[in-house]
Amino acid sequence: MEFSIRIGDITTEDCDAIVNAANETLLGGGGVDGAIHRAAGPALLEACRSIGGCPVGSVRLTPGFELPAPWVIHAVGPIWHGGAQGEPEHLRSCYLRSFNLAERYNFDSIAFPAISTGMFRYPVSDATRIALSIARDCDQPGSCIDTVTFVCFDAATAEIYREIYREVFDADPAQA
Ligand code: APR
Repeated sequence: MEFSIRIGDITTEDCDAIVNAANETLLGGGGVDGAIHRAAGPALLEACRSIGGCPVGSVRLTPGFELPAPWVIHAVGPIWHGGAQGEPEHLRSCYLRSFNLAERYNFDSIAFPAISTGMFRYPVSDATRIALSIARDCDQPGSCIDTVTFVCFDAATAEIYREIYREVFDADPAQA
């Protein structure tokens, strides 16, 4: 598996699946969720409506419709309430289930936003450590996934990703 960190808009990612930072309704919102719905077009909302919601820590799959990515994995991250209400377990579960779903569907490339670190207020360094540790643990021989991109919306978040990448992987990160 190759990991890279890039600054930009995840809706432009040309990979098998982009991950959305959704909420339990799956009916859209602001942030990356709003951007994905705008770029995918109204058929995405219809597909999400027919799923009927998703619990925190879980994921659901839809087509990408008008997005360059053919698939969207909707992950429902936790709202940060101080860290003692299962937030780390739920965030770990979002990343792990996203990787598991990508394996099940034979995706070879996947892109993640910084789930829960915007409106849901999860501290960025802690969330990044979870994202990158799960990615390292999912990098197993025989995996169909060969490219994993962490798309950061701003330079400050990307810098935190790079720093924590060095800590978790004991190597310098690639830049996409
Ligand atoms: N591409 C990549 N990253 C983005 C984009 C984008 N187009 N837009 C925003 N981001 C970044 C934010 O800067 C933040 O770092 O995604 C990260 C996650 O922020 P949010 O989108 O606010 O997601 P989250 O904190 O998980 O909150 C989810 O927000 O919009 C609602 O419906 C969503 O209720 C849910 C909640």
